[in-house]
This record gives sequence, structure tokens and C-alpha cells, in this order.
Amino acid sequence: MKKYVKVADLQSELSELRKDKTIGFVPTMGALHQGHLSLISLCRSMCDVTVASVFVNPTQFNDKADYQRYPRTLEKDEEILENAGCDVIFAPSEEEIYPEKDDRIFNFGELDKVMEGKFRPGHFNGVAQVVSRLFDIVNPDKSFFGQKDFQQVGIIKAMVRQLKLTTEIVVAPVVRERSGLAMSSRNMLLTENQRIEAAKIFQALSYAKEQALKASIDEIRDEATRRINASPELDVEYLEIVDADTLQPVSEWNDSAEIFACTAVHAGKIRLIDNIRLK
Ligand code: PAF
Repeated sequence: MKKYVKVADLQSELSELRKDKTIGFVPTMGALHQGHLSLISLCRSMCDVTVASVFVNPTQFNDKADYQRYPRTLEKDEEILENAGCDVIFAPSEEEIYPEKDDRIFNFGELDKVMEGKFRPGHFNGVAQVVSRLFDIVNPDKSFFGQKDFQQVGIIKAMVRQLKLTTEIVVAPVVRERSGLAMSSRNMLLTENQRIEAAKIFQALSYAKEQALKASIDEIRDEATRRINASPELDVEYLEIVDADTLQPVSEWNDSAEIFACTAVHAGKIRLIDNIRLK
């Protein structure tokens, strides 16, 4: 595996490779886990060259403490990527990604006014800034994202359409711990008890799936929320039942062809998100 920290060096390597190979790209913020590895593996199966970036993007953190606390494990990440068969790792500095302050403001309409966008103002603008910059640098044929970040996927697809980019967005299913807890870099910050209790998030989402089309949307949302909040370790920030494309809440099962339940839950200072398809 080759490692690059400078944009110019990475680009000169990729321009050679691109002559006769397809480039797949897995952007990450490091602290890699099985969820990331599933993206690497999918990328390897679909592209000739797999490029992974590791960059903790400051512009997408609306909470400074969350940014400071975010796990940084670059050496271990390199080892994990090497063992997973990744071809190129790009681990730039902040100056390399943002030589000048990025002042761009994206307009995602209603997509970023709900759920994560509502509770983390500015978060998706920062995601769009860094992902568009990374796409610009890597110019990948295909880019890989996890379904766990359901709203992020919607935002990135919208950004690709708006900027008329050509990279194809490939989405991989949520990877879960044995307990059902969705894999996340933040899981390593949970106490043992929080991690056990956090399994209740997937249990509540599974309950919602089981009840889909049988009970009303309001009943399911309220009961799933109640089940998570029943744990003294957990506090639901939102649990919404939404249209898969518009991300807006639905009130009837017939309102939309594809419906997801999405939630964000605080376990102490750690914020976890998860989602499940209901219909
Ligand atoms: O999903 C993530 O880890 C980040 O939001 C991403 C896409 C790497 C951008 O920093």
C-alpha cells in the first residue's frame, strides 16, 4: 500500500493509474472498524484500485469538544488498510485539504433541515465541503459510503447532482456488532455498560420494522422512542420515520414508496445514529 500526505503526489500517482484502471474511493475519518472494511472490500470487488482517505474534517463538527474527542488512530488505521488490501492511503493535513478557508455554502433545500441537519447545524455543509474537495483531488470512478449515515448519503448524492460530478455513489449496508449496535468509530468511546445498553437502539428499530404497516407511524415512533429511553444510559435526540428520498417525516404508510426509521441517541457524551428500512 502506498501512502500519500500531499495532494500533488497523490494526483501524480493516480493520473498514471487512471490510464488503464478504474479508481474506487473510500473517504473516512479514520478509527477504522468492520463497517469501513466492508466498504474497502466492496470497493476492491468493483474497482481496480482502492484509495482510502483518513482525514478528521474540522468543518463538519458543530461541537468543538466532539472534534477534539474524535478518535485518531492513524498508525493502526494504516495497518488495517494494508491488511484489507487497500492500494493507496491518503492522509492529508488540514492545510493540504483547506489551503484557504472554505467559505462555500451549499443549498440542500429541505434535505438538511431535518434530523442530523436540525440538531447539528452546519454539519452537512462541512461534509459537502470536504467530500467535494476529496472528489476533486481523487477524481474517483466510484465512491463508497455506509448506509449507517443515511442522511449523509442523501446529501452527498444531492451534492453530486448539483455539482454535476461523475463519480458513482455506491452504498453499503450497515455493519453491526454482535449485539446489533451499528459499528461506529464512536463506539470505542462508550463505557462497557453504555455499549451493552446501546444495543437497545437496534432492538427498538427492529421492533419498528416488525410493526411496520401493522401499527400507525405515530404509535411506532412513540413506542420505539420509549423503548430506547427506558434505558437510564440512553437519551433519544430524535427518532423519525421518513421518506427515503426527501428525508421528510411521513404520517401514513401510503405517503411514500420507501420508508426508513432514523434515530440519534445520546449515551452520556457520545452521540450514536442508526436507521432501518421499514418499507
Ligand atoms: O462519514 C464519514 O466518515 C465522514 O463524514 C466523511 C464522509 C469521511 C467526510 O468527512
